Amino acid sequence: MKGMTVMAEYRSVMQKEDLSPGEGKTVMVNGRSVAIFNVEGAYYAIDNTCAHRGGPLGEGDLEGDIVTCPWHYWEYNVKTGVSPINPDVRLQTYPVRIQGSDVQVAVE
Ligand code: FES
Repeated sequence: MKGMTVMAEYRSVMQKEDLSPGEGKTVMVNGRSVAIFNVEGAYYAIDNTCAHRGGPLGEGDLEGDIVTCPWHYWEYNVKTGVSPINPDVRLQTYPVRIQGSDVQVAVE
């Protein structure tokens, strides 16, 4: 329907045990490349594509809730998508939920 916000559907992207605390991984959801992170047992999802030159954030180092791009070391908070260095640099975040042992992400 025109003008209505369509709620994105949650889709299973991995099992909880596929991603250990302190790690990240890239998944494809609805044709979009999304980086999933496990911060002390809680899961977060942001766009995988670095705002600098498109580096793969799912392959970056995760330190607490900050991921560092493997290409030129830009940093992002995985909970907010915002750079701790420059608040104008912001990536899309996606809602994550756990269903049983499934990690599910909602991407429009
Ligand atoms: S592409 Fe990510 S820091 Fe350059």
